[in-house]
Amino acid sequence: MYIEEAEEKGEGAEVKLRGWVYRERSSNKVAFVRLRDKTGTIQCVFKEDEVEEETFEKAADIRIESSVEIEGTIHEDERAPTGYEVHASNINVIHNAERFPITDDKSTSFLLDKRHLWIRSGKMRNMMKVRETIIDAARNFFKERGWIEVQPPLITASACEGGSTLFNLDYFGEDAYLSQSGQMYAEALTFSLEKVFAFAPSFRAEKSKTKRHVTEYWHLEPEAAWVDHEENMEIQEKLIEHICQKVVEERSEELEALGRDPEVIASVSAPFDRMTYTEAVEKLQEEGFGIEWGDDFGTPEERFLTEDRKEPLTVEKYPVEAKSFYMKSDPEKPEQVLCDDVIAPEGYGEMIGGSERETDNQVLIDRLKEEGADLDHYTWYLDLRKYGSVPHSGFGLGIERLIRWITDMDHIRDTIPFPRTPNRFQP
Ligand code: 4AD
Ligand code: MG
Repeated sequence: MYIEEAEEKGEGAEVKLRGWVYRERSSNKVAFVRLRDKTGTIQCVFKEDEVEEETFEKAADIRIESSVEIEGTIHEDERAPTGYEVHASNINVIHNAERFPITDDKSTSFLLDKRHLWIRSGKMRNMMKVRETIIDAARNFFKERGWIEVQPPLITASACEGGSTLFNLDYFGEDAYLSQSGQMYAEALTFSLEKVFAFAPSFRAEKSKTKRHVTEYWHLEPEAAWVDHEENMEIQEKLIEHICQKVVEERSEELEALGRDPEVIASVSAPFDRMTYTEAVEKLQEEGFGIEWGDDFGTPEERFLTEDRKEPLTVEKYPVEAKSFYMKSDPEKPEQVLCDDVIAPEGYGEMIGGSERETDNQVLIDRLKEEGADLDHYTWYLDLRKYGSVPHSGFGLGIERLIRWITDMDHIRDTIPFPRTPNRFQP
């Protein structure tokens, strides 16, 4: 049975648990084995004068991360961290572990080398549970509203976000790339299923070693026909609100254990504060930032705009030259596009990038040419504007960016079990 079930049975119940030794400590009278399973940890107490000699010796000699079965009775105990402990009567050692390499004083790089073992830690376990809830909540938000989940390919011939961050692949002698975004395929599927979303890995060959970049991340990409820029922003804000509520409902304990006050997340509600790129630039210039209209924001700019906020900020209508080729020109001001970024509060940075999509093929062709793209690779994409083109919009949410903010995690690599960064692709 699981630890959680044993605790529910309550005072005096006979229990048989199995799992891994999280901690151990013993004297010549009593051995404490803290057992871990997927539901939590519990202290198991072996008293020398109450159990058989052989049992006591096994418990006293057990090494951390050994796999064991323990039998005993459950008792409420105020001193125990979870309020319960097991008065153990027997231990069956399934596998006596070698000396576990991870101890309290290990460096970050050591823990990354031993990531396959470090994922057993409380921090990683809590993070992965929150991560699961966030992903579930995101999926359900769309499913409950009738959107259909689709699967874009991950091997592609064309860049969605410009050529500079593509991972090259030798595809039987031809050049191919790992997908930076499933957007163009989601757009194609929109003309088939109208409201779709993809959730898949995206790859970015970004050498920048920052706390918010990984080279492989999970990308949620909704795309919908008949949706304009305004409605696109509403969907994004409601999605984030929904995810925040679900996480607080289901994972407050884990959030607290990770050092995030659930109240802060509970108070996030749509709509968020919005400003235009132009207003943001004015604010930044007033503060002495050397930014010109046309420049994209970097970490310092995003940090300044959001560090004192408790809720995300939506910044819309960036200059054409700062954004990707497919974004629709603002009919009122063609030098800007109908796009937005949702920026996390407290300086965590951009979480979402979205836009209404350009429907004019000539504009798309001109922009692609300016970028120096090979038009042959975009013929299929341009076809979408030839056969029943409709206004449509979509966005991309980087799940690890969102998790980092929600869990208040210092580094993005700790939001995914096996992170990929410029200098690490194993274990
Ligand atoms: O702003 P980006 O580049 O937009 C796109 O890829 C669009 N095609 C998405 C769409 O409209 N369907 O990326 C979207 C999001 C960013 O806001 C960020 O959250 C995340 O993807 N992201 C990364 N996350 C982790 N590490 C990286 N290196 C990331 N690059 C982008
Ligand atoms: Mg972006």
